Amino acid sequence: TSTALSFKVADLSLAEAGRHQIRLAEHEMPGLMALRGEFGASKPLTGARIAGSLHMTTQTAVLIETLVALGADVRWASCNIFSTEDGAAAATVVGPTGTVDAPAGVPVFAWKGETLEEYWWCTEQIFDWSDSSAYGSGAVGPNMILDDGGDATLLVHKGREFELAGAVPATPADASHEYSVILDVLRRSLNASGERWTKIAAEIQGVTEETTTGVHRLYEFAKNGELLFPAINVNDSVTKSKFDNKYGIRHSLPDGINRATDVLIGGKVVFVAGYGDVGKGSAEAMRGQGARVIVSEIDPINALQAAMDGFQVTTIEKALAEVDIFVTSTGNENVITVEHLMGMKHLAIVANVGHFDNEIDIAGLESLAGAERVEIKAQVHEWRMPSGRSILVLSEGRLMNLGNATGHPSFVMSNSFTNQVLAQLELWVNNTEGKYEKQVYVLPKHLDEKVARLHLDALGVVLTTLTPTQAAYIGVPVEGPYKVDHYRY
Ligand code: NAI
Repeated sequence: TSTALSFKVADLSLAEAGRHQIRLAEHEMPGLMALRGEFGASKPLTGARIAGSLHMTTQTAVLIETLVALGADVRWASCNIFSTEDGAAAATVVGPTGTVDAPAGVPVFAWKGETLEEYWWCTEQIFDWSDSSAYGSGAVGPNMILDDGGDATLLVHKGREFELAGAVPATPADASHEYSVILDVLRRSLNASGERWTKIAAEIQGVTEETTTGVHRLYEFAKNGELLFPAINVNDSVTKSKFDNKYGIRHSLPDGINRATDVLIGGKVVFVAGYGDVGKGSAEAMRGQGARVIVSEIDPINALQAAMDGFQVTTIEKALAEVDIFVTSTGNENVITVEHLMGMKHLAIVANVGHFDNEIDIAGLESLAGAERVEIKAQVHEWRMPSGRSILVLSEGRLMNLGNATGHPSFVMSNSFTNQVLAQLELWVNNTEGKYEKQVYVLPKHLDEKVARLHLDALGVVLTTLTPTQAAYIGVPVEGPYKVDHYRY
């Protein structure tokens, strides 16, 4: 029996425009299209009910439709309040064969500009499969999670924890507004259904996690013995973090700054906090535009790398007075404090590309006496400071490459999402004989190499093949894998 599709997006009439973007993106996503060719007939994801929490962009639509082509049933929410492309969301709901009047696609719960309350409501919806025609008897929720930043995984873990404790804590350990919103969602769902999250957790076969910050959360759960299901760290596939995090941001950071402000980057002083994968791509992009780039780091290895790459490395305090554009890419908290914000030049631009908004103390700014917020346009705010100077804050301190632009382009996301699909296959199909325990794994190197291989033709790359004697000489098979696991690329 099939029931009407449930979903919540901004405007279904954007579906046609969204479909055009998806068609063009498919051409730029050869890895995902190759997986459709390889597995579209055998449909190895049949039976998988995937709850997805990842920026609902055009590229993600191609990922979702690949999962569906491989047999999966999917529900989706975005993992950020500003990152949804409303056309892509609408087109995913309508589906490639449906119409606006009779959507035949995937239940998506995402729109650009959600409140935090709406965001966590959307996340909750990807766990409610009661209206799905495809789920088996007794199933209450998904049996797989595809996560970006770990919010979906967090909701299940917290829901189960409080359910077992009998209630949501009255005085939470974390006093942030966002945590109180999460607790409200859980309080409602615990009251409504007794042992909902415990059942959901028991059914989940595994999670595949997209980003550095979400992976960090997973290792914390595993370290404390709290991880409820196996996890694959997609971020640390070489073809993910050394490509998406670096080359993706090299494209989407300047794109976000340009769309938000249109200031000339050349000649300006740009400060990049953090010289990890995202920081490296950010610094390179700003230098490419002719900016003078200053980097900060806490890790001596990364600091030395930045110096060797030709960047000045110093603290934010020392650089503060000369910087025109600030970019945080650390995945850490409070990297830019209210004091820093108060000391900045007039109309300095403040942008974060790390996963969460607490890299910049926006909460502190909001409660600063005498500070006034003026909306220039959506996701661009001038803050008039008590000093009489102003600063420009992009996307309220949230991922500005997705909030002010459309995130990373298709080709690089094809690498990331091909890893995602392979990781879903690994946990759904190949997790036999207890291969994966409640720990965090990375994909084997031969799959990492496969992802890269699938993207060579489109760029006209001609690969050299080892001769058998050469292969024997360096001790690797002719067909790979070519590097030891600890090789760093
Ligand atoms: P990473 O771990 O490679 O780099 C982070 C760097 O920040 C490290 O080198 C660390 O030593 C440094 N750091 C930590 N605290 C610092 C501080 N107080 N001051 C200066 N440096 C500090 O992580 P990666 O992959 O570069 O990711 C960074 C963040 O970006 C994460 O939150 C990740 O989830 C997010 N991300 C965002 C993307 C986007 O599209 N905007 C894409 C991929 C990742």
